[in-house]
Amino acid sequence: MVRAHGTSRRSRCSGGVALLLLAQCAWPVSFVGRTGLRATAGATASADVTYKEELQSLCEEFRSKQEEMWEMMDEQEKSEKKSGKRKEKSKASLLQAESFAAQRVQLGDDLDALRNSTIEAIERVAAKNPTSAPLKGWRGYGGEDPKNCILNGTWKLIFTDAADATFKKSKRGSAKTFQEIDAKEGWFINCVDFSNPDSKLQGFRVFVEGKALNDSEVELIFRKVRLLRRSRFFPEITIPLPGPGFLRKVGRLFARRKGGEVNPSDRGAGFKLLYVDEDLRIHRTFDGLYFVQKRLA
Ligand SMILES: *[C@@H]1O[C@H](CO)[C@@H](O)[C@H](O)[C@H]1NC(C)=O
Ligand SMILES: *[C@@H]1O[C@H](CO)[C@@H](O)[C@H](O)[C@H]1NC(C)=O
Ligand SMILES: *[C@@H]1O[C@H](CO)[C@@H](O)[C@H](O)[C@H]1NC(C)=O
Repeated sequence: MVRAHGTSRRSRCSGGVALLLLAQCAWPVSFVGRTGLRATAGATASADVTYKEELQSLCEEFRSKQEEMWEMMDEQEKSEKKSGKRKEKSKASLLQAESFAAQRVQLGDDLDALRNSTIEAIERVAAKNPTSAPLKGWRGYGGEDPKNCILNGTWKLIFTDAADATFKKSKRGSAKTFQEIDAKEGWFINCVDFSNPDSKLQGFRVFVEGKALNDSEVELIFRKVRLLRRSRFFPEITIPLPGPGFLRKVGRLFARRKGGEVNPSDRGAGFKLLYVDEDLRIHRTFDGLYFVQKRLA
């Protein structure tokens, strides 16, 4: 796909970028939210606080179960590599390793049930949404000053059921991920910073443009990726992205190969905000995937 010609440094770099893009495809799609007017405090009764707390603890539980599962898969991969099994049966995986099979299925079921309860908790919280027009102010939408757009700021993803949305630990060290929303310019910027100081790549930024469709729905268009490098000469490389149709196809292909279910919507990339207040926001993508984010700043 994004491969450059030749076997130079450039082609290696492009390959890496392609991988990053693939890995991030599902993620940026769902990130974005729209803003509306700030919720008036007090209107959100204290009863909602318990709903929110319940949701947040489910999100945490889901996340730690997910990490547990990843770790197990990594361990298995390592031991397969050691024993040379990996080569013969590159497709062999958890399911074929007898000793792991039961546990994996067990964990899979657990995670599935946990996801279901988290989504039920999301619906309960969404029923109390204090912000009916979260996109108000988005690039001036609704005649409102972008300053008053409730979405603007820095957010942290705490839950998603999208297959490839979360960043696993890699050899670049653990990754810090967050999202910046610039309501004035209309950007959702997905940020990844790697902690490993030996990695050439310090992090990257995926710029997704958001267009307000109405008070609570946003269309997303992936515009570019900026690579942040530990290099004196080229600390930044910006790569414009191909059209949205292409990216979605690639994303779908990737999700399928990873065994994810995909029910692509015919509406393209975008989401509907289900809940937004000062510190929590929830949206559902047009593909039906949920994202819960907590405000960092
Ligand atoms: C979770 O929900 C899906 C879809 O509603 C359902 O098919 C599945 O059986 C549920 N899983 C569990 C463990 O309840
Ligand atoms: C919007 O959020 C960014 C941080 O992501 C911040 O720098 C900026 O000041 C905010 N703008 C407004 C108008 O609050
Ligand atoms: C926004 O548009 C969608 C699709 O046309 C519609 O289902 C939804 O009710 C609209 N929302 C608002 C708040 O107008």
